[in-house]
Amino acid sequence: MRIDKLLAHSGFGTRKEVKKLLKSKLVWVNEEPVTDPKVHVNPEEDEIAVGGEPVHYQEFVYFMMNKPQDVISATEDVYHHTVIDLLEPQDSIQEPFPVGRLDIDTEGFLLLTNDGALAHQLLSPKKHVDKVYEAVVDGIVTEADKEAFAKGVTLDDGYETLPAELEILSVDEEAGQSHTRLTIHEGKFHQVKRMFEAVGKEVTHLTRISMGPLELDPALELGQYRALTKEEISLLKGE
Ligand code: URA
Repeated sequence: MRIDKLLAHSGFGTRKEVKKLLKSKLVWVNEEPVTDPKVHVNPEEDEIAVGGEPVHYQEFVYFMMNKPQDVISATEDVYHHTVIDLLEPQDSIQEPFPVGRLDIDTEGFLLLTNDGALAHQLLSPKKHVDKVYEAVVDGIVTEADKEAFAKGVTLDDGYETLPAELEILSVDEEAGQSHTRLTIHEGKFHQVKRMFEAVGKEVTHLTRISMGPLELDPALELGQYRALTKEEISLLKGE
């Protein structure tokens, strides 16, 4: 890749700023100064340094976010803040994007990455990546609902869902409210809300707690995020 792109993606400023940096002979590749922004480097093999400090270029970034309500899981939007607006400037340089969508009022686990191949793999309908949600539901969730979900329910557009595992965590008879945990193996639009609608109930609060092998880190407050560890990245990739 071009040295100017690598440096811009490593936080050394815009391409224009990087050009100036190169002109100032502060950028060295394999112990030789490089001033031409068009020079190609291999970050795996070449030793790149700026002002004598080695540059460790990472092509892909991976973050786990605890998405709050009122932000949308997109990279840009005219009306709302997006999850990208919650990133520190240095973390958005490599243009991560959310893997899949959570509704504006859904909280919890959201993966952000610029690794398109991994995102594709995780979202592929064929892969059936498990997603676990906790849902507060208006109404009394019953064993019959559990059985219906275990067989698959018919959504409003006639789509038959795959079997899903519903756990009833608690039921407040007086308030007419239930706390549930639901594991689904696909990701249709508004799927959890529509599955409960299919059994005549309304989701009033929804949180995703895991996706595939990764669970939401309980240390993350709403709106916070952190980089995935090497182990977590390998788990996600199924390595
Ligand atoms: N199902 C929903 O209904 N909403 C979400 O945000 C995610 C899954």
